[in-house]
Amino acid sequence: MCGIVGYAGRRDALPILLDGLKRLEYRGYDSAGVAIIGSGLQVVKDKGFIANLEAQLPPLKGSTGFAHTRWATHGAPSKVNAHPHVDCTGKIALAHNGIIENHASLREKLEARGHTFTSQTDTESLVHLIESYYDGDLEAAIRKALHDVRGSYAILAVHADEPGKVIGARNESPLVVGIGPDENFLASDVPALLRYTDRVVYVMDKEMVVITPKGVTLKDLEGNAVRREPQRITWSLEDAEKGGFEHFMLKEIHEAPQAIHQTLLGRLANLDLDGFSSEGITSVKLVACGTSYHAALVGKYVFEEIARIPASAELASEYRYSQAPSERPLVILISQSGETADTLGAAREARRRGCKALGITNILGSSLTREVDKTIYTRAGIEIGVAATKTFIAQLVALYLVALKMGQDRGTLGYDELDRLKDQLRSLPRAAQYVLNKAQEIEALAAKYGTARDMFYIGRHVNYPVAMEGALKIKEISYIHAEAYAAGELKHGPLALLTSSTPVVAVAVQDPTYEKMRSNIGEVSARGSPVLAIGTEGDKELPKFVDDVIEIPSIPWIFSPVPVSVALQLFAYAAARLRDCPIDKPRNLAKSVTVE
Ligand code: M6R
Repeated sequence: MCGIVGYAGRRDALPILLDGLKRLEYRGYDSAGVAIIGSGLQVVKDKGFIANLEAQLPPLKGSTGFAHTRWATHGAPSKVNAHPHVDCTGKIALAHNGIIENHASLREKLEARGHTFTSQTDTESLVHLIESYYDGDLEAAIRKALHDVRGSYAILAVHADEPGKVIGARNESPLVVGIGPDENFLASDVPALLRYTDRVVYVMDKEMVVITPKGVTLKDLEGNAVRREPQRITWSLEDAEKGGFEHFMLKEIHEAPQAIHQTLLGRLANLDLDGFSSEGITSVKLVACGTSYHAALVGKYVFEEIARIPASAELASEYRYSQAPSERPLVILISQSGETADTLGAAREARRRGCKALGITNILGSSLTREVDKTIYTRAGIEIGVAATKTFIAQLVALYLVALKMGQDRGTLGYDELDRLKDQLRSLPRAAQYVLNKAQEIEALAAKYGTARDMFYIGRHVNYPVAMEGALKIKEISYIHAEAYAAGELKHGPLALLTSSTPVVAVAVQDPTYEKMRSNIGEVSARGSPVLAIGTEGDKELPKFVDDVIEIPSIPWIFSPVPVSVALQLFAYAAARLRDCPIDKPRNLAKSVTVE
C-alpha cells in the first residue's frame, strides 16, 4: 500500500502535493518523492518520512506533477527504490501503488534491449516499458504498456515534453480524481483532496485518466471514452483518513478481502513463495507472540492436515527456554511488525540451534527479515489499529500457501487435490466479504452479549486457536474479561465458572469436530449460559441448540478460520464501540512490542 497524489493546474504544484501526501502517510512511510515539470522534469526522493523529504527539497517550480509515499513490497526501503522512477531518457517519471507480478520477465526483456535499471523495484520495469512504447504520446504509450502488465496498480506518470498533463491508471489499487476550477487532482484516497475540492470521480479497474488544468478525460484500456458523474464528498478530513469508517480497526477489518487477495497475488499458480523451498524439511515449529501466535497455532493444524508434516507451535517468549531437540525443524517466525523483541530473540535462538528459519511478516525490510534465512511477506497493507485484524487474516493465508507448497513438494497432495485447494483459496476474499456483509447483524448481537463482565470462547481443532484469537480481540479492545478453551476442556474445570451471566461464544462450523462441539454446547446450555454460535450457512440444526448464530459461508472446514475470524473481529469491535472504548489505541498496549 502506497500513497500517490497528482496535480495539474495553475498554482505551484509542490505545496499542494506535499500537503496531499501528508494526508496519505497512513498508507506507508518507507520513502517519499516528487516529480514536477518546470523547466524540464525535476525529481527528488529519499528514504524515510515525508518530513525528511520536505526538509531537503529545493523550491521546485512548476504547476504539474505528482508525489508518492511508499510502503515497500519489492526492494528494500531506500533512496534508489523510492518513487518516482524515471526512464532512461530522464523525461518520463512514474509512481506506482500495487504489485507488477510479471516484473522479472519484463525487466529481463527490457534489459536485453538496452534499458538500464537502477532500483530493485517491480515498478521500474513499467517506466522502461512505457519508454519503449513512447512515440510522442504518453497516454498511448501507457495504454500499450499496461496491456503487457499483470498485477495490481494505481499509477501516475508525466512526460517532460507534455507539460500540464498527469496521466493515471488503475487496476485493483485505488485512484480517485478531484475536480476543481482550472485545476484537477489525482490521489489514492479522498483525504489528499478534501482541502481543495469535494467533487470527486472514482477511477475503476482497467481505466485510465488524463488530467490537465482544463479538464479530466476518463477512458478504458482500449481507449474508449468512459462517462462518470462526479460525486460530492461530505466527510470531514479526519473521517476521510479512515475511509469513512469510524475507526481504523473497522476499516482494517473491512480490508480483509483485499489483504487476502494481495497475499495470494502471483503466488498461487506456481506456489512461488518469494523463493522458499521446503526441500529436506521433516518437521515444522511455528513461533510467535499474541495474535501472530494464534496464527501459528492455526498453522500447526493446517500443516498437519494439508502437508502431513509434524508441526508444533510455541510462544516466542518461551521458545528460548525449551530444550533444543536433536532433530532440526524448520522454524517459522510470524510477526506482523517484524519488530517484536521476543520473536526476534526466538529467530536468533532457532538459528543458533542450527535450524533453518523462515519469517512471515507484513513489513518489508523489518528486523525479522535480517534474522531469518527466507521471508514471505503478507501484503495486507499498513495496519494502524493496535488490534491486529487484516494482518492476522493475511498470516493465515500465507500459512495456507506454505502448507500447499510443502504438500506439493512432499508429494502428499496430488495434482487434483492441489488444484482444488488453490481454487478454494481463491474464493476466500468472497468468504470474508460474506461475513462483512453481516456487520449490522453482528452489531445487534454485540449489543445483546457485550454488556457481560466475563465471556468464554470455545472451539475445537483448527478453530480452537481462532476462539483464542476471538477472546484476545474482545479482551484488548472492549476490556471484557474473556477466556478461550478447547471445547472439550470445559468439563475439566472451567464449567464451574459458567452462570447465566457468562455468555459463551462457540465456534461450531461444519467440520470433523462438529458433533462433539454440539455436545459441548449442550453442557454449556445446561448451566444456563447464553450461547452465541458461529455456524455454517444452511445448518438447520445448530439454531435449535443455541441462542444466536452468526453464519459463515459453506467452505471447506480447513479454511473456515478466515471467515470465522472476521466475524469475531466484527463482534469484538461492535462490543468495544458500545462500551465507548478507545478502540484504535487500547490502554496499556502498543502496536509493536520491542521489549522482552
Ligand atoms: O508484530 P507482531 O505480530 O509480532 O506482534 C505480536 C503481538 O504483539 C500482536 O499480535 C498483538 O497481540 C496484537 N496487536 C493483538 O491484536
